[in-house]
Amino acid sequence: MLPSAAGSVLEAAWRDPGFCVPHAGTYPFQWLWDSCFHAVVWAELGDERAAVELATALAQQSPAGFVPHLTYWADPEHHAPFWGRPTTSSITQPPMYAHAIAHCHRRGMAMADELVERAEAGLRFLLTRRARTAGGLVAVVHPWETGCDDSPRWDDWCPGPFRGEDWYEVKGDLVRAVRLDGGDPVGSDAFEVGAVGFNALLAWNVRELAAVGAASDLVGAADELAGAVAGRWDAERRTWTDADAGSGTVRTADALLGLLVDPRPEGFAELVDPAAFGAAFGPRGVHRDEPSYQPDRYWRGPTWPQLTYLLALAARRAGRDDVGAELARGLVRGAERSEGAEYWHPDTGQGLGAAPQSWTTLAVVARRWLAEATPG
Ligand code: GLC
Repeated sequence: MLPSAAGSVLEAAWRDPGFCVPHAGTYPFQWLWDSCFHAVVWAELGDERAAVELATALAQQSPAGFVPHLTYWADPEHHAPFWGRPTTSSITQPPMYAHAIAHCHRRGMAMADELVERAEAGLRFLLTRRARTAGGLVAVVHPWETGCDDSPRWDDWCPGPFRGEDWYEVKGDLVRAVRLDGGDPVGSDAFEVGAVGFNALLAWNVRELAAVGAASDLVGAADELAGAVAGRWDAERRTWTDADAGSGTVRTADALLGLLVDPRPEGFAELVDPAAFGAAFGPRGVHRDEPSYQPDRYWRGPTWPQLTYLLALAARRAGRDDVGAELARGLVRGAERSEGAEYWHPDTGQGLGAAPQSWTTLAVVARRWLAEATPG
């Protein structure tokens, strides 16, 4: 994907008061981690809308720091009965705003103090107010908080053959089970899972903000969290496993986000091994030997561009440029073959889900990495 093509996708997705819809038809609202990825791409394109999109993503933050994962800007009553409040959802998503701020910074874009302070407060809320699992991981209180909607990791909560309709019902029940404190989601009576991917992203986002001179008082807690993630490594299954997740040992690509804070060679090997996650168009969403693996079904096997981007970053940061380049190539190829789709078939690149999906423009970052690595 050329930067000009990425710019056209984001331009067409741009809405008031300053954010991109993930897809105009399927996802016509603002989603938190999507907007953070869009900001990464805006910065990549040298467009000041990076800061605008981050500001709208954090605009509905509560006084205690909680950042909702959905904002219904043009239609505040949409889904209000479902969430029990107008304008926003009552749960969050991975706090990718700190990485987005750090990326903007590295691309030479100044970030307003208020934005950085909001990011700090968002991370602090998760580190200090959220329920913890026995092993010290921060609990997600709803599967949507991980960003991985229909992942087979959650099948214990929806027994029987997987059916999207049943799962949607369960997710409604799980929203109602969230425990609020002053309106902020702090726990759940039905779902408190130490999702390793979410925790790795939280710890890593603190480090990202610290790298640009903020959030230094949170680094100790982030280091402890990184240690707790490392403690979840399962040498036999070559993955990190969620805590308090029922039988939840299904091997997924998002669990390998542990590599951002615990860069184990075995983890990188899994990502590119064709007998595990490795595929021509980027890592499979689910290990190919899992009985639940379905390479063309939403969150149950396809390749996701935002995860591929993060896993490639993990490899680059760990000095594993070989793995980083392979994943970056998968992302670039997948974005092209799928015509910018939301996710795609790992072996064929066939586009799946919505298209064009705004976050798939992350391929322009991968394209730059590959260009920089090419001598001459
Ligand atoms: C789906 C995904 C979620 C994403 C949203 C918008 O709900 O599961 O991760 O944020 O779509 O793209």
